[in-house]
Amino acid sequence: MPPGFFDNPDQSQACAAAIDVRASREYCAEAHRAERSVRPMIPITDLVRPGRVHRSVYASRELFKLEMERIFGRAWIYVGHESQVRTPGDFVTVRIGRKPMVMVRHRDGEIHVLHNQCAHRGAMVVPGESGHTDAFVCCYHGWTYDTDGRLIDVPLQHGYPEEFDPAETAMVRAPRVESYRGFVFASLAPRGPSLTEFLGHMTTSFDDMIDRAPDGEIEVAGGVFKHGYDGNWKLYLENLCDAAHPIFVHRSSIDAARRQDDTAHSDGSGEVAIRQMRQNGASYEFWQDQVGIWTYPNGHSFLGDYHDDEKLVAAGRDPVFADYIAAMEAKKGAAETKRILERTRWNSNVYPNLSFMSQFRQLRVVHPVAVDRTEVYTYSFRLKGAPAKMFEDTIAFANVTNGTGSLVLTDDLETYGRIGAGVTSEGADWIQIGRGYASDRPDDHGGLQGRDSTSEVYIRNMYDAWLGYMTELPCPSPHP
Ligand code: FES
Ligand code: FE
Repeated sequence: MPPGFFDNPDQSQACAAAIDVRASREYCAEAHRAERSVRPMIPITDLVRPGRVHRSVYASRELFKLEMERIFGRAWIYVGHESQVRTPGDFVTVRIGRKPMVMVRHRDGEIHVLHNQCAHRGAMVVPGESGHTDAFVCCYHGWTYDTDGRLIDVPLQHGYPEEFDPAETAMVRAPRVESYRGFVFASLAPRGPSLTEFLGHMTTSFDDMIDRAPDGEIEVAGGVFKHGYDGNWKLYLENLCDAAHPIFVHRSSIDAARRQDDTAHSDGSGEVAIRQMRQNGASYEFWQDQVGIWTYPNGHSFLGDYHDDEKLVAAGRDPVFADYIAAMEAKKGAAETKRILERTRWNSNVYPNLSFMSQFRQLRVVHPVAVDRTEVYTYSFRLKGAPAKMFEDTIAFANVTNGTGSLVLTDDLETYGRIGAGVTSEGADWIQIGRGYASDRPDDHGGLQGRDSTSEVYIRNMYDAWLGYMTELPCPSPHP
């Protein structure tokens, strides 16, 4: 083992106090000396080196705690879609990192994101997942909050100290909440870049999702798939641009799907599940020459043309898809419809907690639970103005790619769990993320375009962002 790294959980525990009180560039050095009188610990900046990262970024509880403060406490975090709180009084419970929050539409139409914590004795005020209310009433002693978080009633109000001022007491709001065309993000940092600055070119992936609706509007519909795995939160986004894994991880479903053909489907247009699984077995040349990975500042990325409509929904032969195109052309014209449908992005990933598939109306939110435990919630969207059957296809697709019984997703979950276990084995300290570096070239939008799709440029890009958040003190942004 190289000098200066965590070599067992007790060592990393011993360093915990120093992480919080010292500049991160002097990470743990003196605490470690005091505990063991041996090697100094390395700075956070040295955990990420060219082409590799130290395994502690996936295994250290102390680094996980810092990530919650410095990444999830600073970045714009996706919390929900405006259609989930369409009417004043509508609310959904959400999370920022591990913090329970509530996204709620106030009677003036504004959306707030509130800490789900009573200002009295700290109870979580809003249970469950969603609902509609005039006010939030805490179950413990009845303190009552308006839907903008203000405390509006304190039963049994007597004996409080003079300084207690109900007007100054509230379910505390996230200091910044912004929406990009209906997608709501919150930041716990009072200052920083605007949401559109943070998203940069990734706004085009949101545009793509919305523009695919003939009426120009989308809404969250159906249920929510929830799955968990025993591994670090970063593994999830890292896998979603990993073009090298399907032919290995998903081998069993690829082989099974190849034994089916499109005539198995009642109208002969092919079953979306079979098509998806077959496509996972695309040749290496396909991934390299056609798909592509694009990376952008702040850790964002997307995977390119993995499925065009012909591959997945048999565009020309599917009568529902024909109706959909007709609805699009009626509202947007043939040229604009062609432009929209020719954009075929697979996963668009907004660091640190969001991945969505604009072409297939899927959105996944990553919830870190512990250094070795992560939950992911998946939502489906309905395109306003599209044939009703389109949403059935959306759900069918969700079952294949994001359902908890999916023959594909379960392979990935097994892999995340194996990585979660493997990085604790202390066999090798370094995780390799250096593949394909020489082939990465800049694109026209400030990102890196990887024509070699097996490149791990997207992981290195996320670690650039990780370092930025983890080492900037105390504010992540130069913006006033
Ligand atoms: Fe909420 Fe007492 S803890 S009213
Ligand atoms: Fe996979």
